[in-house]
Amino acid sequence: MNTNLQVHLLPGSVREQHLRGSVAVVIDVLRASTTITQALASGATAVVPTATVAEAHAVTAEICQFALSASVTEVPPDVREQAGILLGGERGGKLIPGFDLDNSPLKYAPGVVGGKTVVFTTTNGTQALRKCGNAERVLIGCFSNLHAVISLLANDGRPIHLVCAGTDGEVSTDDALCAGAIATGVWAARKWPKWTGDELRLVMDLFTCRCQPLREIVGTLRESQGGRNLIALGLEADIDRAARWDLFRIVPEFDATTRQLRPAKDVASEPPHVLLAPRE
Ligand code: MLT
Repeated sequence: MNTNLQVHLLPGSVREQHLRGSVAVVIDVLRASTTITQALASGATAVVPTATVAEAHAVTAEICQFALSASVTEVPPDVREQAGILLGGERGGKLIPGFDLDNSPLKYAPGVVGGKTVVFTTTNGTQALRKCGNAERVLIGCFSNLHAVISLLANDGRPIHLVCAGTDGEVSTDDALCAGAIATGVWAARKWPKWTGDELRLVMDLFTCRCQPLREIVGTLRESQGGRNLIALGLEADIDRAARWDLFRIVPEFDATTRQLRPAKDVASEPPHVLLAPRE
């Protein structure tokens, strides 16, 4: 029986060569994972993650077949619109100048992103994704797609790496709590007898302590480093949204060839719920 599930509280603790042959799940609850999942659930054709703002502009130019120059460093909005491209993401939690959307999941509504490709860059989440390039399969996890992720992992025999994005190089409890939920769910689904690994133990214990009721989860997210940053920016509604479980049966999966995130095709239509939903 494969009981190989490792948790990385920060992308920096991932040894990239150890990811070969594995499934990696990138977790950035506040907010990149939640927003990417929302975008695809709202009908975006794809999300293209990029590490930097400059890369986002370069990738946009490539998709639009638009030649950038020393004087024109961004694809004009009308050219982007014609190509069905939206620029999304944040720096310092805020809208990036010249971008269409910030990193609030609530902004990625069907009427806004439906049928569009979102070129996306965030401070921590899209960087964490970069660290997972050696994995055989790379997925995005958050509370919004919790049981969809758990059911994919429960049916996958490869080693699993849960990679928390953290916040500005620091461990963030929002990601750790979600890693604990996913790990606990996989354990329950696979009926594994025991677990090994200190980071795994930490996140599972955290989840056990803070999983009920819903206000406990919201409170844990609010107190996390990422949560405190969002509260300072007046973005509490995003925290409430990110705390909600199982809004979608969509698991974003990274395709290394196209460099796009699209919904994984093998998510069950009714993923079994192995964890007790939080009481209101
Ligand atoms: C990130 O990827 O750095 C986060 O999603 C930051 C944020 O909350 O916008």
